[in-house]
Amino acid sequence: MRIIVIGAEGAVGRAAISDLKLRHEIIVAGRSSGNLHVDVLDEDSIARMFEAAGAIDAIITTTGKTHFGPLVEMTPAQFKGGLDDKLMGQINIALAALSKLRDGGSITVTTGVTNRDPIRQGANTAAVNGALEAFVRSASIEMPRNIRINCVSPGLLDVSAKKYEGYFPGHIPVSSERVGFAYTKAVEGAHNGTVFAVDG
Ligand SMILES: NC(=O)c1ccc[n+]([C@@H]2O[C@H](COP(=O)([O-])OP(=O)(O)OC[C@H]3O[C@@H](n4cnc5c(N)ncnc54)[C@H](OP(=O)(O)O)[C@@H]3O)[C@@H](O)[C@H]2O)c1
Repeated sequence: MRIIVIGAEGAVGRAAISDLKLRHEIIVAGRSSGNLHVDVLDEDSIARMFEAAGAIDAIITTTGKTHFGPLVEMTPAQFKGGLDDKLMGQINIALAALSKLRDGGSITVTTGVTNRDPIRQGANTAAVNGALEAFVRSASIEMPRNIRINCVSPGLLDVSAKKYEGYFPGHIPVSSERVGFAYTKAVEGAHNGTVFAVDG
């Protein structure tokens, strides 16, 4: 398969391709990293990416920034930032991919543990993850041309534990290898509308 992975040079992106790259052609995409540049917040940039990529069987997104901060200090603008970036960025790609992927292709988006296991300062990221998972479940029942859509929801990755130190008390970090197998299941398996949770 030819698979575009947007965010493939990030922590989750590297995990996502760790197993798939053994059997498939991976096109590494990112805003400034990788060999195909795209801004998932910009529809023209997305159109150019699909034009440049040619025929594609699967697309994986591992992008998205959300606001971490105390609820009582959170502003609507900070909250909206998470919606615009992590939610709309991945939905922009999914919507564009519907007419670009080969028949029988797949879309895999990325959420995270916070909407099933809340953390302090995580209201924005939890809301974004929940919305994205609802989109996947609903979109899956009207996918065209046998295209499938799924979601991988990793717990805190082992390689990111230091970066988020103090935010996830008691969470057992998950191995990048296990996270990689969840993306393999989403791409090579037959599921549609599934959220693959990877917890420690
Ligand atoms: N790390 C974890 O433990 C963990 C656990 C669960 C869920 N998640 C979720 O997984 C996602 C990725 O997290 P991460 O830790 O892997 O982040 P990361 O290391 O910062 O990587 C983000 C990747 O996304 C790309 N990217 C960011 N904005 C983009 C845009 N507008 N257009 C195109 N590409 C863009 C970046 O490319 P450039 O560098 O070229 O900008 C980079 O390759 C986030 O949604 C996060 O919430 C992470």
